[in-house]
Amino acid sequence: MTTATLDMPAKPKPATNPSPAGRAVSGRPVPKPDTLDRIVLTGFMGSGKSTAGAVLAERLGWRFLDLDHEIEARDGRSVPQIFAEHGEPHFRHIESATLASLLGERRVVIALGGGAPEELGNRLLLEQTPHTAVIYLSAPFDTLIARCAAQAADPATTDRPNLADLNLAERRFRLRRPHYERIAAHIIHTIDLTPNQTVEAVLAAIRQTKSPR
Ligand code: S3P
Repeated sequence: MTTATLDMPAKPKPATNPSPAGRAVSGRPVPKPDTLDRIVLTGFMGSGKSTAGAVLAERLGWRFLDLDHEIEARDGRSVPQIFAEHGEPHFRHIESATLASLLGERRVVIALGGGAPEELGNRLLLEQTPHTAVIYLSAPFDTLIARCAAQAADPATTDRPNLADLNLAERRFRLRRPHYERIAAHIIHTIDLTPNQTVEAVLAAIRQTKSPR
């Protein structure tokens, strides 16, 4: 299988972010693609971070790291078990430590958990890690919830602790959205995109940050 690199010629793009090339949505400069070491996918639960992240990593010939899976591997328990046995603050503590260590890796695509950007320390770390582009995969709340239900083993229940109460989940969605936007170099609107189209959109957005030839 051919490995795509960040230098491959631009393809027709689905929806990508409207920010000018070379500038983050927040106005911070974005590293040029050929100097990128990490692409970090952020967004609410159901935004497709893990699915698109695995495909993106394969396209780039990079490693894919899923923050939740790394937490589970280190802790030896599932995310719902950590929530149930020790509560969310403890989970957030492990999440921050794990994120810091993943950001030490190079040539990786990292899928964050939906709540990671709620923590100020995590946002600062993401902003200050060099050669790192954060991409926000956005979708409306109802779409995200429908996708999560479709992924759950039993659509009537959820294996995501923070989806147990939908009213609370919607409040958190509204609270987090500005954080996702602020840390993002690019925003990809995924509502009409398949995972493969999302990956194409991410690649196109990243290529956009190239200096003009
Ligand atoms: C959470 C999202 C989950 C996981 C945990 C908490 C959240 O990750 O980290 O259940 O608070 O939004 P996904 O976004 O991958 O589902």
